[in-house]
Amino acid sequence: MEKFSIEGPVRLHGKVAASGAKNAALPALAATLLSDEKVELTRVPAVRDIRTMCRLLEHLGGECESEGHRVVASGSCVGGDQPDAPYELVKTMRASILVLGPLLARRGRATVSLPGGCAIGVRPIDEHLRGMEALGAEVELSEGYVTARADRLVGTRFRFHVPSVTGTENVMMAATLAQGSTRLENCAREAEIADLAELLNAMGAKISGAGGDVIEIEGVDALHHARHEVIPDRIEAGTYLIAAAITGGDVEVEGARWRDLEALTAELEAAGVRVERTASGVRAVGNGELAPTRVETAPHPGFPTDLQAQWMALMTQAEGTSSLRESVFENRFQHVAELNRLGADVQIDGRTAVIHGKRALSGTGVMATDLRASACLVLAGLAAEGTTVVDRIYHLDRGYEAMESKLHSLGAQVERFSAPMEV
Ligand code: EPZ
Repeated sequence: MEKFSIEGPVRLHGKVAASGAKNAALPALAATLLSDEKVELTRVPAVRDIRTMCRLLEHLGGECESEGHRVVASGSCVGGDQPDAPYELVKTMRASILVLGPLLARRGRATVSLPGGCAIGVRPIDEHLRGMEALGAEVELSEGYVTARADRLVGTRFRFHVPSVTGTENVMMAATLAQGSTRLENCAREAEIADLAELLNAMGAKISGAGGDVIEIEGVDALHHARHEVIPDRIEAGTYLIAAAITGGDVEVEGARWRDLEALTAELEAAGVRVERTASGVRAVGNGELAPTRVETAPHPGFPTDLQAQWMALMTQAEGTSSLRESVFENRFQHVAELNRLGADVQIDGRTAVIHGKRALSGTGVMATDLRASACLVLAGLAAEGTTVVDRIYHLDRGYEAMESKLHSLGAQVERFSAPMEV
């Protein structure tokens, strides 16, 4: 089991380049199933979830050649009788559900394992399925699998009950090959959705409004080859800006887009951190003094739930009591117990965490439970006195490319090592 050993405290300084966004590259890879021509994606992050999605595309009979940050894929969907997305693959990555819409639209049938829950919540997919039914698909659930069938999808008007990110992506992809036009309402507005629409339009789709809450799609008969550069990862960028703040350091994230980070930069400034837009990205300069804040996560353009854990680590160092409400997922406080082991004083009251600062953190062994919780513990380790060992770092590898080398370049002492499985 791989772990990180982190020596603290440290003051980070320097520049780090943002990788491509995992949550934009995953739907982009699924979108290649919509055409049998080659699609070239660049700035694809070299992280585990991308490798998993490539394996899934190949399992479906598609091609997926990756070389560094470039991936060329095409979706010859031969698909036999076996489930398109078997449980063995889907249980390691819920984003596998993103192949449902493309397979249904392209081949008229898709059988995908229900993702099941995960550490941060039940994570239902009812919005995805309601959207496919609205497009004319027959959907049935049996033995942990969902099967959707349709001779040809037909454009419709559909309103999401919840602005689901992958739900919006899945239904938007399905609608690109439907007969007639589709109007999607109450859509998610995260940056990754506009990026996916840009790729789909480059492939010949006719989509307008992506990034807003209403998306219009004019169905076409086929999609073709395209080349697309994936947007930078706003959550990775935000994580490094918070790292600058918690260490009282000075970090510029090159390639980060100011407009993707406005909810975070507003809260950083409220906490007393200087944030500036630079010619090549976004810079944060901490000064060791942090003011407490009251933050609530929300769908974009609200404060991203994917930065909630990292923000909590920061607020343990604020002079006073902060509150942090998790309004998107029902169980995204797994990192609280681990933070308190480091010396923090965080109390949970339903969906709100109350963080009593400032508490000196001291290094010890902690365990990551999910992708963003592991980032939170790394940030806390950078501020803690002594050595912090973060276990189960495989969670981090799902969505952060080369985190230890990026932190090294900013002056951190972080080592990855393997330890025998503890019995
Ligand atoms: C995407 O997950 C991201 N993953 C998540 O990032 C992110 O936390 C989340 O959006 C919210 O921003 C990818 O893009 C691959 P949702 P997704 O559907 O699409 C409820 C990370 O750390 N809901 O927007 O699964 C759901 O329970 C990951 O990179 C339904 O009720 O999230 C949740 O409360 C973690 N029915 C809320 O909506 C549905 O059919 C938001 O979920 C779908 C969702």
